[in-house]
Amino acid sequence: MAAEKSIAVIGSINMDLTARADRHPRVGETVMGTDLQYIPGGKGANQAIAAARLGGRVSMFGCVGGDAFGERLTEGLRENGVDVSHIRRIPGESSGIALITVAGGDNSIVVIPGANRHVTPGYLAEQREAILESDVVLLQNEIPEESVEFAVDMCSQAGKTVIWNPAPMRPLSPQAMEQITYCTPNEHEAALLFPGSGPLPKLAEEYGGKVIITLGERGAIAWDGGALLQIPPRPAQVVDTTGAGDTFNGALAYALARGWTLKKALLLANDAASLSTERYGAQSGMPSCRELPDRWQ
Ligand code: RIB
Repeated sequence: MAAEKSIAVIGSINMDLTARADRHPRVGETVMGTDLQYIPGGKGANQAIAAARLGGRVSMFGCVGGDAFGERLTEGLRENGVDVSHIRRIPGESSGIALITVAGGDNSIVVIPGANRHVTPGYLAEQREAILESDVVLLQNEIPEESVEFAVDMCSQAGKTVIWNPAPMRPLSPQAMEQITYCTPNEHEAALLFPGSGPLPKLAEEYGGKVIITLGERGAIAWDGGALLQIPPRPAQVVDTTGAGDTFNGALAYALARGWTLKKALLLANDAASLSTERYGAQSGMPSCRELPDRWQ
């Protein structure tokens, strides 16, 4: 049996300040909340933990501040089995913070990048050897744009499988778009990333397997081997959707690192993401292998 490949996640590490309320405030309005929690997050860290919980061999590349959050966030990744030896601590800088409001199962998020700004091309060049030890590389958009493009170029030239999750939405250069193996927008990101591209199945077909579109509670679609792949929804008792997209991406990386087909990888990613919405918080909701539905046991 082929050895399982490893995963490098290059991205953000945040502390989520998550407030719960009965409904989201309208612009200019104040609403009373019910509670506030400090929950480790950040799209990069979340995706790393999602892959590691399922059993993946994961290394995290990113930066935290010299504050107490930096220590706690790094420790949380380590406790989840992620290799944290390449995370850089930036003295005098604050760790990334996300202000999250959760109401009616949905969330709104404002991110203050802090130390995530220090994930520069210079830092990535220093980590080159360690990053290229992995076979699958997972990136998002909470680090500087030039760093994402630098990493895509470095990893694709080395023949790695590069997954780019365009969240929050910001386009990539045409060259980097060419170089990535998979891009995983949700439908809103897809509409912004490929304006005027028409219906989603047509978009998936046009990019022939490169573009995987997540549809929230409606599943996901992609093009695979000459046919449209429609991943059906898994019904969920939704409590909080924060981190569902991250769970999808982490699980996808895990499955591709195991050498699974795209179809099997997407079925797992969809199940894991759906399960993650049934618990509160981004990382707290991510399932381990044992918590997956019976068909994965
Ligand atoms: O995708 C959810 C994540 O987005 C949160 O954990 C928050 O940190 C923001 O990065």
